[in-house]
Amino acid sequence: MPRKDSQSKSTIADNADKYELYEESVQCAEAEIDFIEEQFYELRGRHARSLREDFCGTARVCKEWIDRNNKNYAVGVDIDQTVLDWGYKKHFLSLSQRKKTRINLINSDVLEIGNGAHDVICATNFSYWCFSERNVLADYFKSVKGSLKNDGMLILDFYGGHDATKKLREETKYDDFVYIWEQADFNPINNMQLCYIHFKFSDGSKLDRAFTYSWRLWSIKELRELLLESGFSQSYVYWQEWDDDKNEAKSDFTILEKVDSDASWIGYIVALF
Ligand SMILES: C[S@@+](CC[C@H](N)C(=O)[O-])C[C@H]1O[C@@H](n2cnc3c(N)ncnc32)[C@H](O)[C@@H]1O
Repeated sequence: MPRKDSQSKSTIADNADKYELYEESVQCAEAEIDFIEEQFYELRGRHARSLREDFCGTARVCKEWIDRNNKNYAVGVDIDQTVLDWGYKKHFLSLSQRKKTRINLINSDVLEIGNGAHDVICATNFSYWCFSERNVLADYFKSVKGSLKNDGMLILDFYGGHDATKKLREETKYDDFVYIWEQADFNPINNMQLCYIHFKFSDGSKLDRAFTYSWRLWSIKELRELLLESGFSQSYVYWQEWDDDKNEAKSDFTILEKVDSDASWIGYIVALF
């Protein structure tokens, strides 16, 4: 039987690993942990040691946390065993037995994780927006409260601005691929949004819809009210600073209560009780 080598030649997309690409293009675990360390110390006057990363995916943030200090301990929680297995193999499998005792990856729905005593719980890259009903998000905030120490804190991120509800495709070039963020649909009646991440390669091949997100675009005001109703006594909004000279966002975030209504913005909410 003749071989069909020319037809079966594999493309870059065939050999691409979507989690590798995600970590490289979406995440900046170093900056996230800088923020967590600094704000915890600033607000609590001691160093945070125990972190739970909810919706942890590949647990890249957990890895950065345990690398920072040999007293640091991390728990990662994700509902998808496949992504946890990938993260364990990449970030933790080759660590010493001693270091491995400082990481625990749990395959669970974050709503069912039970109580704990962490310094910090973080839910970033807007993952908690998968809880689109008010009562369900309130249940999540209440369960987080039951898993924090008395001086613990919850860290959430958010995005918004008038571009956030538009249909758009944004391309960002990396050395070996192009990252594409697509806002495919938004329903202003219930604020549900459908987004995709695609990747494109130099040979023209693509990983279309490598990741799909269907979530509610929550407003900052709604989130803060819900945090209060769920037992947190205060929350701070950290707004990303802007460099006027370079016309680009800085990596610093400042506590603010009044800002301009720009086309797009991101930031963090830190909740305490
Ligand atoms: C956008 S990824 C976030 C990955 C990583 N935390 C980050 O910052 O980029 C969302 C993750 O949430 C997980 N997930 C979705 N619903 C969940 C739930 N109810 N409980 C736990 N994990 C959930 C998915 O499996 C997925 O890995």
